[in-house]
Amino acid sequence: MQCVKRVLPDLFWVGADDRRLSCFEGVYGVPNGVSYNSYLMLDGKTVLFDTVDKAVARTFFENVAYVLGNRKLDYLVIHHMEPDHAATIEDLMFRYPEVTVVCNSKIETLLKQFFDYDFAGKVHIVNEGDVLNVGKHSLTFVNAPMVHWPEVMMSYDSTDKILFTADAFGTFGALNGHIFADEVDFMHDWLDEARRYYTNIVGKYGVQVQNILKKAAALEINYVCPLHGFVWRSHFNDFLEKYLQWSSYTPERKGVCLAYASVYGHTENMANILAGKLVDRGVSVEMFDTSVIPASYIVASAFKNSHLVFASTTYNAGIFVTMENLLHDIVAHNIQKRKVALLENGSWAATSGKLMKDLLSKIPNTEFITPTVSIKSAPKAKTMDELDALADAIAADIVPAKKAETAPIEEAVVEKALTVEKEAFFQFTYGLEVLTTRVDGVDYGCIINSAVQVSEGDKKKVAVSVINKNHTCEMLKKSGKFVVSVLTEEAPFSLFKQFGFQSGRDVDKFEGADYNDRMANGIRYLPVYTNAVFSCEVIQTFDLGVSTLFIADVVEAKVLSKAPSATYAYYHAHIKPKNNPAPEQKEGWRCKVCGYFYEGHELPKDYVCPLCNHGPDDFEYVPGTPVKKVKGFICKICGHFEPYDGEELPADYVCPLCNHGRDDFEPAER
Ligand code: FEO
Repeated sequence: MQCVKRVLPDLFWVGADDRRLSCFEGVYGVPNGVSYNSYLMLDGKTVLFDTVDKAVARTFFENVAYVLGNRKLDYLVIHHMEPDHAATIEDLMFRYPEVTVVCNSKIETLLKQFFDYDFAGKVHIVNEGDVLNVGKHSLTFVNAPMVHWPEVMMSYDSTDKILFTADAFGTFGALNGHIFADEVDFMHDWLDEARRYYTNIVGKYGVQVQNILKKAAALEINYVCPLHGFVWRSHFNDFLEKYLQWSSYTPERKGVCLAYASVYGHTENMANILAGKLVDRGVSVEMFDTSVIPASYIVASAFKNSHLVFASTTYNAGIFVTMENLLHDIVAHNIQKRKVALLENGSWAATSGKLMKDLLSKIPNTEFITPTVSIKSAPKAKTMDELDALADAIAADIVPAKKAETAPIEEAVVEKALTVEKEAFFQFTYGLEVLTTRVDGVDYGCIINSAVQVSEGDKKKVAVSVINKNHTCEMLKKSGKFVVSVLTEEAPFSLFKQFGFQSGRDVDKFEGADYNDRMANGIRYLPVYTNAVFSCEVIQTFDLGVSTLFIADVVEAKVLSKAPSATYAYYHAHIKPKNNPAPEQKEGWRCKVCGYFYEGHELPKDYVCPLCNHGPDDFEYVPGTPVKKVKGFICKICGHFEPYDGEELPADYVCPLCNHGRDDFEPAER
């Protein structure tokens, strides 16, 4: 019987969960299972996006048949040929012989390698940027080489803004009846498995992931559909932020991943002592016994933490076998930009420290904290001193604030008295509101982040501060009354553009609104994306130079919803689009085998591709295109860049970061 989930009215998940798999790809334990995602679009044409692993073939084919009903299958888009998604392609071809396979030429090559089926006349080859119209949807194809195989591509549906991302943005774990990431507490309950999935499956190819993230940044994306794990339809930036960190090998936190290999417990003893000393100094530690914990968990922790400590006994004149395996994995995943400390043990001749260092030295940008702490058989009193010194060195990197605590008090006070760090003001928590007023029958409104309650008791009062250059401020001084609509986290960026990025002098900010809700005082309020509204009458004003502070009595207030209020921090993290760097193409040479890009005018004659080891003959020249610069204005106070094509910003434009007005901006290009 079918087991499908609806993603959109015309898009269905037809994949399946697998909870019986003990080792994904034969090496990664998946105690929570894994999902194999396939999606079926019903448009003018029917389009299946990838197939599934053979283990769940039966459910998959029942799902496809159910969603298709009486319709035939027109297209199979293949993004990735690894058998966890491609194993059932041949079977699908037999069941749906009229289907046309849509893929790139590398995928076509793999089709012929994996299957004996005769695909002649059944394959439609697409290249980067090609578009396939299937009815109301248009699919654009984007190559994503080495994320994480050379043939991988992604598809973008420009109608519903869906990005089909192949393995990227997937996670280990069965879906368990969910389909959307917002149906679970992803960042709390799933992030560890998502990290383990990324770091182990894709982690080696950080440069290639960064390249595809740049391409994705130029797209408006409402849905992300990966081949494993959840569909993203909200809060995707939270996950994207993690990908940006992981793919650039930026540690998520300052902390220690401590892995040890011990035969009879003495090396473990040394590792435990060091862990205790680190924690005493305020350092967070994640600790692993390499003989017990599979390497994939330790690799994930190494991506997460800034400092790595490896402790190994000497075994057969080398590194203990489980540690050696782990270190080969760490090197293979190219985990860069880490500080590394080593502990070794050897009853006769300790060699593991040097051998571990030799192995890890292959990773670029690895910094060793020396000396290696070395013991013979068991830790002794002098080991305690050496571990203290090592713990001090690590803690000095991670908790520098601790040093300040021991600095002379007078020194610290003098520094604080003389410094006004503007970033400190960013730590205040603000809500976001729309302030509206009405003068001579015309409605005005603007975004504020300054409404606060200033009195308790029966007579409620609020204060709002509005920039003087803002047209709404001028109107508010005339009307003496206003309405505050408290915005919720659901408020879209377009609403902030509507009320914040244009002037009431030039436009009617309510034009086209499909609501006309008013409080008893006749002033409009926002009935959507708002959880509470307040009607207020001004009783005092204070001119603060740049802005005016209005103190007002609250004469009417009502709750509209229970949705959480949007804070200023939330706006920046989740609502405001990230800066979209213009896609650019640098001059260089692209490996035709794996897609690796060598930047530069000339390719050295003896150059060998660092990914696939092919020589210069397998590279093709890619001419650079000039980088398109975006015109705009930059805030001289806080550095915020506002893209803007006009001669000057609107008169009442206010910097969303520091609240300074147009006069504090100067023209700039980015
Ligand atoms: Fe999920 Fe690369 O296969």
